[in-house]
Amino acid sequence: MPGVVLDPAEVDRARLEALDRAWAPARRHGALGSTPLPHLLRHAAGFVPAAWRVRPPDTLVDLGSGVGLPGLLLALLMPGCAVTLVDARARRCDWARVAAVACGVADRVTVRTSRLEDLAHRADARGGFGAAVARSLGPPPEVFELGVPLVRHDGLLVVSVDTTGRRRWEDAPLGQWGAAIAATWTRGEGSWIAVRRTGPLPAELPRPARARRSAPLF
Ligand SMILES: C[S@@+](CC[C@H](N)C(=O)[O-])C[C@H]1O[C@@H](n2cnc3c(N)ncnc32)[C@H](O)[C@@H]1O
Repeated sequence: MPGVVLDPAEVDRARLEALDRAWAPARRHGALGSTPLPHLLRHAAGFVPAAWRVRPPDTLVDLGSGVGLPGLLLALLMPGCAVTLVDARARRCDWARVAAVACGVADRVTVRTSRLEDLAHRADARGGFGAAVARSLGPPPEVFELGVPLVRHDGLLVVSVDTTGRRRWEDAPLGQWGAAIAATWTRGEGSWIAVRRTGPLPAELPRPARARRSAPLF
């Protein structure tokens, strides 16, 4: 089903129940929290900007996906999209792989256990994704530096934000690094911001963790 974005109510219930069961061990170990799946699904749907309803991305990378949030739910919502989940923690990635099989999306979901700063300097990944999403990855400069290098020209990085985070994104001179804010929106479950990659990015980005911590981009 290329080119389709489903509403949460249209997602197959049996797949969601299977996903919920597969995530149960992760919940017991505190890797997922206790938020009920229907709420997580609505929040994941919030990552979909209006532009994707017209033309969903062909590929999407979830930055710091943990056990698959929001990436696995976006895979269910966008059945034509190939989704890559990236997290540095092997155990979370294992849970994500099991969950992808359980909810029937393993044929188009890839789970990579990697640090994003390493992946973003690999020729097979840098600039290779139509879109990126991040939920609870870190402060805006960290998400920007880790995420935008993975997105191809004109692609969007979509991030869930609180009020402070949103202001920080809006005040940042993103044009310096070949990016611009494309849209912001608020729905019942939260607020989001979409950053478009508009031009070339300095080759040294993302920098090692220590440099990002000691001198954030903005
Ligand atoms: C707070 S968790 C959020 C997980 C998931 N997005 C969610 O909403 O449940 C942040 C995740 O980002 C991962 N992470 C943080 N920095 C990372 C990096 N530089 N490279 C890869 N993964 C990273 C952590 O391992 C952790 O699983």
